[in-house]
Amino acid sequence: MGLRSDLEAYLEQAREAIASASTLSEVDDARIRFVGKKGLVSTALRRVGEVPPSERPTIGKAANDARNEIEALIAGKLDILARLAQQAALAREKVDVTLPGRPFRYGNKHILQKVYDEAQRIFLGMGFEVAEGPEIESDYYNFVALNIPKDHPARDMQATFYFDDETELRTHTSPVQIRAMLSKHGALPVRLISPGFVYRRDSDNTHSPMFLQFEALAVDVGVTLGDLKGTIEQFAKQMFDQSVKIRLRPSYFPFTEPSAEADVSCTVCGGKGCRTCKGTGWLEILGSGMVHPAVLRNGGYDPSRVTGFALGMGIDRVTMLKYGLDDIRNIYSNDVRFLRQF
Ligand code: DAH
Repeated sequence: MGLRSDLEAYLEQAREAIASASTLSEVDDARIRFVGKKGLVSTALRRVGEVPPSERPTIGKAANDARNEIEALIAGKLDILARLAQQAALAREKVDVTLPGRPFRYGNKHILQKVYDEAQRIFLGMGFEVAEGPEIESDYYNFVALNIPKDHPARDMQATFYFDDETELRTHTSPVQIRAMLSKHGALPVRLISPGFVYRRDSDNTHSPMFLQFEALAVDVGVTLGDLKGTIEQFAKQMFDQSVKIRLRPSYFPFTEPSAEADVSCTVCGGKGCRTCKGTGWLEILGSGMVHPAVLRNGGYDPSRVTGFALGMGIDRVTMLKYGLDDIRNIYSNDVRFLRQF
């Protein structure tokens, strides 16, 4: 019986081929060879019609059984190979839980914000409160109310960005003195600080067209220059070091009378004289004075009854002195390599 024994032989060969196949392509080769369209078993099935009719049912069944068995073996083998492939992939992807984690970099406060926060903390501790004002300011608040009328030569001290004759970027935080006094409607005491950005047409390695100022104002019955000096001293000791000394030097500002600039003993050499203090032993940190009577009046206070002191400092400058920086532009260029040092 040619066909029957052929079928038995094919089935035996197929079992062996599938059992020994170890790759997808070997299984596929076996599939094509036995049960593909022109495969041995498929061809045998088509030859069932050639056998005598009495034998057709048994041969036909044998051929179908052979094809079904081979297809089942192939499916089983594919299943096994897929599982092996997955196991191999998992074995390759080892997770080592003992490896150190990737370093996570924390951000930090900007150096200016740090120094400003510290200045604010010191002044809040002395009973001051925070007041704010706009950066786009009227000429009246920025200059006129501070005793600097139009065409006054003192305007040259502060190169200004004007929008028009009546509007400008504020050149200092001093206009907040007027705004805050007016909002108090004559109530006492006035003790305020005002932080904020100010703008001047000025730029080199110690001047930035935008910088951060810090204003303080105290108005009450009997405020003296001694209060001003004590306040500055307390600030300087807490900001820099308890050993720091201060001195007031006579100066001129239109909105204070008398006016003084305050120096701290050099934070680098302690006052002996070095490059930072240019041999003088002193570093200037702020402008100050007793509030001019005209300014008190513009703020709604009676200069025959109350007195006040005011001061204004550059937080940028204090920052440069505190951290020994030599270029103000580093503070604003936002290079994290610089900023993350602090
Ligand atoms: N506004 C001044 C400036 O920007 C600084 C200043 C000086 C502020 C004396 C004051 C002060 O309050 O009393 O140059």
